[in-house]
Amino acid sequence: MSAGGGPSLQFIDTHCHIVPGVDDGASSPDVSLRMARIAVADGIGRIIATSHIVEGYYDGSDLEKRLEALRRLFAEDDVGLELIAGAEVPMSICMAGEKQVLADLTLADGKYLLMETADTTYDQVARAAYHVRLCGFLPILAHPERTLFVQKDLGKLKELLANSDVFCQITASSLEGLFGKGIQKTSYSMLKAGVVHLVASDAHSAGRRKPVLSESKNLLVKAVGEENAAVIMYENPARILAGDDLLQKPAISRQEVSKRSFLARFMGK
Ligand SMILES: [Fe+2]
Repeated sequence: MSAGGGPSLQFIDTHCHIVPGVDDGASSPDVSLRMARIAVADGIGRIIATSHIVEGYYDGSDLEKRLEALRRLFAEDDVGLELIAGAEVPMSICMAGEKQVLADLTLADGKYLLMETADTTYDQVARAAYHVRLCGFLPILAHPERTLFVQKDLGKLKELLANSDVFCQITASSLEGLFGKGIQKTSYSMLKAGVVHLVASDAHSAGRRKPVLSESKNLLVKAVGEENAAVIMYENPARILAGDDLLQKPAISRQEVSKRSFLARFMGK
């Protein structure tokens, strides 16, 4: 049985810096292999490789070639992890990139674009989301819980979601508290407000920031209940690969979840 909670359920990690030598993620093929082993042991079956795109440094055009080399390395070591192409796209490209440039950087060659949202303002994210939508793609904000305007005022994020068809992906280790109490608190506030669509590892190494999702799944079950946790951890990542619309789930507070659990116990369910 996988750590994902069932024999057939495996996690799909929709944000991971597993490709070596292109950004601040895996520093060598050996580190990539160690990351892959950790991911598989945690119940992750597929990873979307989302290296940072940096203008003038790495444009992602040779990603498929790099993924092929990694696939061969994993196969030699009998590591059954599927790799899918993606990218973490900087604000500058999200705000002004040509349609074809954006198309080449989507997750799994589909309709979703992962926008790098660290150190950004509300106006920048709103402009970028508008441009991405105009080009025909759907923006996913990478770790908005680490962005100052979201931490200060969740209302601004809700406004953005309501007006722009924007989706939110938070980082597993934010929930676990690796980035501090403030970011952890924002992550839980986002969950309770029903504005989290995805949780991903955003792993950069086989050490402190490793590809592990099972712990977040357990935290999510406690925070928003089994059903919402399953949407965030399994259903929505699968929908990205299939090119389907992401599901929105209503916010469920801790109190409501524990009340429901009590009733379920009382009713013998
Ligand atoms: Fe990232």
